[in-house]
Amino acid sequence: MESPALALQRHFLTGSSCFSPKPSLSLRLPAAIVRMSLREDGPSVSVVGVTGAVGQEFLSVLSDRSFPYRSIRMLASKRSAGKHLTFDGRDYVVEELTPDSFDGVDIALFSAGGSISKLFAPIAVEKGTIVVDNSSAFRMDENVPLVIPEVNPEAMVHVKLGCGKGALIANPNCSTIICLMAATPLHRRSKVKRMVVSTYQAASGAGAAAMEELEQQTREVLEGKEPTCKIFKQQYAFNLFSHNAPVLSNGYNEEEMKLVKETRKIWNDMNVKVTATCIRVPVMRAHAESVNLQFENPLDEDTAKDILGECPGCGVGRIRRDVSQDGDYGLDIFVCGDQIRKGAALNAVQIAEMLL
Ligand SMILES: NC(=O)c1ccc[n+]([C@@H]2O[C@H](COP(=O)([O-])OP(=O)(O)OC[C@H]3O[C@@H](n4cnc5c(N)ncnc54)[C@H](OP(=O)(O)O)[C@@H]3O)[C@@H](O)[C@H]2O)c1
Repeated sequence: MESPALALQRHFLTGSSCFSPKPSLSLRLPAAIVRMSLREDGPSVSVVGVTGAVGQEFLSVLSDRSFPYRSIRMLASKRSAGKHLTFDGRDYVVEELTPDSFDGVDIALFSAGGSISKLFAPIAVEKGTIVVDNSSAFRMDENVPLVIPEVNPEAMVHVKLGCGKGALIANPNCSTIICLMAATPLHRRSKVKRMVVSTYQAASGAGAAAMEELEQQTREVLEGKEPTCKIFKQQYAFNLFSHNAPVLSNGYNEEEMKLVKETRKIWNDMNVKVTATCIRVPVMRAHAESVNLQFENPLDEDTAKDILGECPGCGVGRIRRDVSQDGDYGLDIFVCGDQIRKGAALNAVQIAEMLL
C-alpha cells in the first residue's frame, strides 16, 4: 500500500525517475471546473517550492477552489527541474527558481523555506509581483502584513493587484493560525488577557521528508530495528519531544515564541499575555492545541460554543470552563487543524483570493 507521505508527493507530481506517472486527482476534475480556473483575465501565478508538502497542497487548494489564473509556473530547486507535474489536467515542467522566474508574474505563492524567501521574495516584489510567503522570514517586519483572512483582513487592504506595484504578505506560523482561528472570535467578544497554549504537532509541519522519516521509523521500530534519524535528532516514531526549532536565550524554542509574537501582531495588541509549549507528536498530519484563555469580561461555555458555531472555518469541539478561575473568566478549548492546509496553503490562497 502507498504511504501517506508518498501519496502526498504523488498527488500531483509525476517525475521521470522518482515518481511513477499515475494520473493525479486533478485529472478527474470536471471539465467545467478546469475551464473556470484557466482564464485570460486571471492573474499569472507562480508556486515556489511546488514539490514540497505545502507546494503540493497549494496545487490541491488552487484546484479545489477553482482559483482563476492566466498562467501558472511551477518552481522548485535545481534538483526538481525537469520533473513533470499535472495540474488541472495539463502537463507542466518544474523549473529551477532563478531571479528571472518572476518576469510577468502577478502573484507568487512561496513555500521553499526562509532562506529562499529572504533571497527571492524581494526580487519578485521589485518586479511587481505580490508575494504571499509561508516562511517566517518577513512575518515580524512591521511593513509586512501578517494575515489570517478570517481574523485580520484589514491588515492588507492597501495591497492591490494590477497596479504594477509588488508587495509582500506573510502567512502566519501554522500553530498560530490554528490557535487564532478559534481564539479570535472569543477574544472579540470578551477580550483575552492571557493565553496559554500547548501544542501537539504533526510530522507534516516539518515537510515531506519528515513525514517519510516518521513512516520509515515506525516500520523500523515495529521490525525491531534501529530507527533512522535524519530530519530529527531523536527517535520520532512512538515518541514525543520538544519542538525541533532552535532554543532561544530565554529557554523558549522559536516555534513557541512565534505563537507569542505573531498573536500580538495579528491582534494588534502588544499587551496580551501569551505563553506556549510546543511538542512534536508522532502523527502524520494536522496539529492539535490545548488553549487556556483568561478573559477580561465573562464568557460562559454555552455562549462560546454558540460564537464558534457561527464562525466560518470553525467546527465546535471541546470547550470547558476553567475551574481554576472564579466565575466565567476562563475557558479551556482544544483545537485541531490541518496545518498544511489552513495552516499554510489554504490560508495563503485565501489571501491571494482577497487580491482578486
Ligand atoms: N509543512 C507545513 O505544515 C508548513 C506550514 C506553514 C509554513 N510552512 C513553511 O513552508 C515552507 C516549506 O515547507 P514544506 O513543509 O513544504 O517543506 P518541504 O516539504 O521540505 O518542501 C520544500 C520545498 O522547497 C523547495 N526548495 C528547497 N530549496 C530550494 C531552492 N534552493 N530553490 C527553490 N526551491 C527550493 C523544495 O524543492 P526540491 O523538491 O526541488 O528540493 C521543495 O519544493 C517552509 O518555510 C515552512 O516553514 C510549512
